[in-house]
Formats: sequence, structure tokens, C-alpha cells
Amino acid sequence: MSATGSSAAAAEIARLRTELEDHNYRYYVLDEPSIPDASYDRLMRELKALEDANPSLRSPDSPTQRVGGAPLSEFKQVAHELPMLSLDNAFSAEEMLDFERRIMNRLKRDDPIEFACEPKLDGIAVSLLYRDGVLERGATRGDGRTGEDITHNIRTVQSVPLKLRGEGYPALLEVRGEVYLPHEAFEAINEKARAEGGKVFVNPRNAAAGTLRQLDPRIAAARPLQMCCYSVGLVEGGSLPERHSEILQALQGWGLRINAESDVALGAAGCDAYYTSLAGRRDQLPYDIDGIVFKVNEIALQRTLGFVSRAPRWAIARKFPAQEESTRLLDVEFQVGRTGAVTPVARLEPVFVGGVTVSNATLHNRDEIARLGVMKGDSVIVRRAGDVIPQVVSVILEQRPDDASPIRFPTHCPVCDSPLEFIEGEVVVRCSGGLVCAAQRKQSIKHFASRRAMDIEGLGDKLVDQLVDEDLVHSAADLYTLTVEQLAGLERMAEKSAANLRRALDDSKQTTLPRFIYSLGIREVGEATALNLARHFGDLDALIAADEEALLEVDDVGPVVADYVRQFLDAPQNIEVINALIDHGVTWPAVEAEAAGAKPLEGETWVVTGTLDSMSRDEAKGRLQNLGAKVAGSVSKNTDCVVAGPGAGSKLAKAESLGIKVIDEEALLALLAENGESPP
Ligand code: IVH
Repeated sequence: MSATGSSAAAAEIARLRTELEDHNYRYYVLDEPSIPDASYDRLMRELKALEDANPSLRSPDSPTQRVGGAPLSEFKQVAHELPMLSLDNAFSAEEMLDFERRIMNRLKRDDPIEFACEPKLDGIAVSLLYRDGVLERGATRGDGRTGEDITHNIRTVQSVPLKLRGEGYPALLEVRGEVYLPHEAFEAINEKARAEGGKVFVNPRNAAAGTLRQLDPRIAAARPLQMCCYSVGLVEGGSLPERHSEILQALQGWGLRINAESDVALGAAGCDAYYTSLAGRRDQLPYDIDGIVFKVNEIALQRTLGFVSRAPRWAIARKFPAQEESTRLLDVEFQVGRTGAVTPVARLEPVFVGGVTVSNATLHNRDEIARLGVMKGDSVIVRRAGDVIPQVVSVILEQRPDDASPIRFPTHCPVCDSPLEFIEGEVVVRCSGGLVCAAQRKQSIKHFASRRAMDIEGLGDKLVDQLVDEDLVHSAADLYTLTVEQLAGLERMAEKSAANLRRALDDSKQTTLPRFIYSLGIREVGEATALNLARHFGDLDALIAADEEALLEVDDVGPVVADYVRQFLDAPQNIEVINALIDHGVTWPAVEAEAAGAKPLEGETWVVTGTLDSMSRDEAKGRLQNLGAKVAGSVSKNTDCVVAGPGAGSKLAKAESLGIKVIDEEALLALLAENGESPP
């Protein structure tokens, strides 16, 4: 290549690198994607091609060079010049007050201290060393003094810049933080492992640790690890701001990712408010956290306070109640669901986990029992995260008692004694009893009455059990024939609550078509599919008349769902129930049938922040998605609208600063109602 040719190539390579680094920074550090993935891939391919054609212009800090050469044969040890410390823990607001008091006494101050607050990410602590802005080394924490060199894997983490941005960074800068695997990536990795018969990870933390421990960087490159920085270590040839919160901002400016929830608070009271707010949103975060870290914000005060043994006096981790505990599996019962699916449920020695006492946990299905290798009598690890049903995650094999006994799947339904159907290639075992089976009838009536279906207030699970057991109700339609006298005759039902329930039954008759379709409990027809069916067909008769081909034209309806819908509507007893419901006065306003795929929020990006009274943020997200919106986790210039409830913080501020439309819950509910997206 001629000299001018290669200098033109050099300029083009430099331009492409800068452009790719900019996109990377926006995408991975600021969570504000700036171009479509396909355009990014195209730029990357152009850069690769140019570098291949000009090998002398290759550079290890080019965005093309994240996955290096051959796998390592072993890990090198790395000595941490400044030890990587651990943190003291606090488990209550009182212990936080003690922490504050100790600091104020030591500093001889009585005005409240400013604290930096950050989620305590449940991942792996690592150290990054930048020399003259170039990533030189990544290392694990190890025992705090000596860790392992994992540079080859760290380089594959897209939120770790190979080169710092901007200027003003110290010549030598060691940055510390947590490498973790977001939930979505964790689920995807496990799903793939299950499909391929590979190793399934117990939790995202183990998956992140297992990934960093690989000698072959291609494995890490295939798993989207994430890194958030939370402190600095060695600093030479430069200086940093005087507050922790400002240091984090500086790190972000240099291209490093920091946690978006980071904030400052005044005194133990401010820390408590931050803790409560984040604890309430813990389940909605896309990654695992096990507490909140509070750090004295002023670096000068941190210096005065110093350390005790391996932990700083100026920081503390307020831990959440543990989400995993060990207990004993006493027995296994088999529950029959609405569609006849038989679920094994572990009866446990009661254990306090995730903030409540748990005595049952799901074992999902036969395959899960086999995967866990669990037996009756085993000690097991139980996990309860947020509102998710408790799960048995693993068996402590070393503690297996001599009299542990195998779990045998029944051959007949434990409720109606009909034979169970074991279908080749299907993990779920089903009762063949259909509506003969009281369990299936009970579950389908409970589903019918539930809040998001017909919303019959006061008709709880226990009551449905009684109504079915006493033969007062055979199908959902029979609910509407119940008299106040019959209801008042039930256990724990006073005259007044019977009258209230009767009124609730009458009120529920006025519903919407999507709700009605959803309430029928057709397999795989959730709220979103019910809405699509209602919109597509416009009325119930058209749906009942639709053949499989017509059903396949509905958004998101594939052959499996179409088949379930047809099977349901082909069963005369189901049509009888539908007709009886309508005869009893169940009715809904007309829905205008729409052209398939037309959705009012199609093409829009929405963000939901703060707390909502009438639904969780996840529900709001689902409903907006039903209307075609894309729901993002952060606000950017591409956001069309932000739904802000009380407690909305930085996202609201950002939306306001960008002049993006913000609406409150009331406006959201009105919008949902207008578009037939049934409010809860
Ligand atoms: S600060 C001197 N901040 O918690 C302060 N640690 O028990 C040292 N961790 O090994 C740590 N999130 O892996 C700090 N925002 C955060 C953190 C955090 C998670 C982990 C870290 C460390 C352990 C300390």
C-alpha cells in the first residue's frame, strides 16, 4: 500500500475507533444507545477489514481487540499494592444509628454527615489498572492482598473501556468495582446450558465467578458480563476530587460505568430513606444486590477515620434479609393446576428467608427433581427473592441422612384419581380428568375470579374451595346463581360479607372483552394474548367462529396457542359455560376490531419510574408493551414519554432536563382504559 494510502487508512481507522468507542460508551456506560445494533456491527466490520488490510496499524486497545489470542494455561498471581478491603455489616436501622454515632464521636462532630449510597452488587470484586489511560491489567480481589490476573477476561467486558476517554485522569489509576451478570443474561446462559446439556449455574454470582475463572477468553466474550465501578485504589501522577460522589462522576466521565442508583444522603436518617426506597425496588432491578453500601462522602473525613483490621471505619454495608437459607425437605405433595398440570411442591421445615417464613417451595416438574437429585429428608437450599414463589435451588449432599427416600411421581391424579398423562418430550405431567377433576375446576374458578380477570372482590381461594367441595358451584357460571343465603351459610361468612360478595358478583358482570377472554383460562392465553384476540376479532362470536388459520393471523399467536384456543372452544362444555355466563348478564362494551398489528404506541419508547399505587412497574411495563410501546430502563433523548410515580428520582430529573413528556399514574390509567388495556 502507498504511503498516502496507508495514512488515509490510518485516519479512517482512527475515526472508526473513536466512533465505535463513543457508541460503546453511550450504550454500555450511559445506557443510552445511540445507533441500531446493525449499524454498530457494520462499523465494527469496516474497522476489522481495514485493520486486517493494514496489520501495522493494529493496536491492542482497538475495539476489535477485546478477545485476545490463545487461551491461557494458568492464572498469574497479582499482588494488590493497596489491599482490597471488605466491609462491616449492619442489619437494622439501629445498627446504622450506631455506625453514625461512632463516626460522629470520632470526628467530634454533631452535625449530620453526608454519605454516598450505592447498591451492594452481588458479583465479584475486581481491580482495573489504567496506565496513561490504557487498560493494563484486570485482577480479582482474591484474599484482598493477592488476586489473579484476569486481564484476558476483563477485556471482553464491554463496559470496561480499553482506553479511558477525555482527559485529566491520573497517569496511574486503579479502579475497583464489581463484575456481575444481569438477570436477563443469566437466564439466557442457563437456558442455553439446559438445551445443550451443559452446566447450569445456581445464581448470577456463581455464573460471573465461573466466567472470570475461565482460561479461554472466548467463553467470557460470549457472556455479557457487566462492571460497575465503586472506588479507586492506586492513584499516581494526578489527583481526584475530594468527595466520593464526585470521584464516581469523574470515573464516569472517563468512560467507566458507575451504578445509576448512586446517590448521596444526609445522616443515618437519610441513609434509612435510601435503604427503604431501594429495598422496595430491589425486585425490579435487572441485577442482584444484597444490600446497600454507605460511605462517608468526604475523602478528608475518610482519611481521618481510617481502618480497623480489614474494613474501613467510614463505610458500612446494610444487608437485606438473606434470600437463601438451608432447611429440611420433609415431604413432597403434588398439586393440580387449572390446566391439569401436576406440580411437585416441597413441604419444608419452616425457615425465615427473604423476610418471611417459608414452609413450601415449588419443585416445578419431574425434570427439576431429577436435575436437583433431591430426596425426601434432604437438607436443601431454599431461595425466596421478592414476590417470586420460593424455590429449592440445591441439595446439600454432605448432609443427606441415611433414611432419605426417593421422590416418586404418582401415576394417578391425587385429587380425582384419573390417570396422569406422561407425554414423551413434555416436562409437564397432566391429569386427564379435565372438568371431572375438582382441583382443575377450583383453579379455573379462582383464575376466573382473580383481579386481572373478572375481579370478583371477596371471592378468595378458600371460599372457592368450599363452594366446589360443597357442590354449590361446578363452573364459573354457577357463581352468578349463588344467593346471599347460600353464601352466608358458608364457613367464616357473615351476612354482611355474603351481601358484599353478592354485590361484587353483580358488579363483575360489567367487564371488557379482553378480560373476559383472559378469564376463560385457555392454556397459554395470558392478558396480552387475550387483548390481541379481542382486538383482532372485535367480538366473541367472531373468535368462536375463527378457524386455526384465522387465529394464526392474530399478533403473537402461533400454532400452539391457536391449537389450544380451538381445543377450548371446540369443547361443548366450555361453550355451555360461556353461554351461561352471558345469560347471567356478563357483558362488555363493543371493541373495534383493528387491522392486525396496529398498536397505538407502536414505535414509541417509554420509561416507568417511581412507585405506582394500582400496579407494579412490571405490570405497567407489560400493559404499555401490549399497546406496542418499547419500555426502556433509562431515559435518553430517544424516550417518548416517562410515567413517573412518587419517589421518581434521577430519571424524572433527566426527562425534565431533556424536555421529555412526563405523565402521572392517573394519566397512565386513562390511557390504558382508552385503549382497552384493562386497568387492574
Ligand atoms: S466498597 C473499602 N462498594 O462488597 C470499601 N463494595 O464486603 C470496599 N461490593 O468485596 C468496598 N458493591 O465486592 C463497595 N458499591 C460497593 C459495593 C461493594 C459490592 C462488594 C465488594 C467487596 C464487598 C465488601
